Amino acid sequence: MTKSLLAGSALALAAAGATSMYAMATTQDDADQARGIIKTFATTLQGELKGAIKSGGPVNAVWVCEEKAPAIAAQLSEQTGWDVGRTSLKTRNAALNTPDAWEQTVLEQFESRKANGESPKGMSYASVVETDGGKVYRYMQAIPTQQVCLACHGKDLPPDLAAALDKAYPEDQARGYSVGDIRGAFTLSKPL
Ligand code: HEC
Repeated sequence: MTKSLLAGSALALAAAGATSMYAMATTQDDADQARGIIKTFATTLQGELKGAIKSGGPVNAVWVCEEKAPAIAAQLSEQTGWDVGRTSLKTRNAALNTPDAWEQTVLEQFESRKANGESPKGMSYASVVETDGGKVYRYMQAIPTQQVCLACHGKDLPPDLAAALDKAYPEDQARGYSVGDIRGAFTLSKPL
């Protein structure tokens, strides 16, 4: 399931993403590609998470997020040519997921859009950014907190789980969320 999902989307993306087409791609094409990659990322990770929680409980599933989330992101990056990651205003893994200045601004924008009544589901923002290396297309999409996430990002975590998280992430800020909160965002970029 996981493998075929990844392989299927990689094929579709490879077909859409020949180098010469990148230069001509419209922003809409870029956004569609980004959304496709995110869908694969989210579906794969949530499948792994749910399976691991079911078979060994949340404490045993911590490693899924710890190991699999960066691994899936790296694999998708390699397959698609996009840089794929996750970020948040309150990170668990600060070393890997701390927002840069652009991401910080977009995450704050997402919070104010939510405060103004917009649903975080599918909330996104894209822009072409000038860098030293040339033009880069950047895309972010909010990650709403769901029930299944509360096991590890909610309030009043069970002591054994809190201890496991403390050990792996001494600077963990990613607790205390409720369903519907913005947990963070997928962040993707691609040179144009
Ligand atoms: C089994 C525990 C567990 C569950 C359940 C869980 N997470 Fe996490 N989450 C983690 C761990 C551990 C990390 C740190 C991963 C890393 O090192 O990159 C993390 C990191 C993240 C990050 C990256 C930003 C950061 O804080 O460093 C996001 C975004 C995130 N989780 C969202 C979610 C969402 C959304 C759900 C529900 C669909 C969820 N998580 C469910 C344990 C969990």
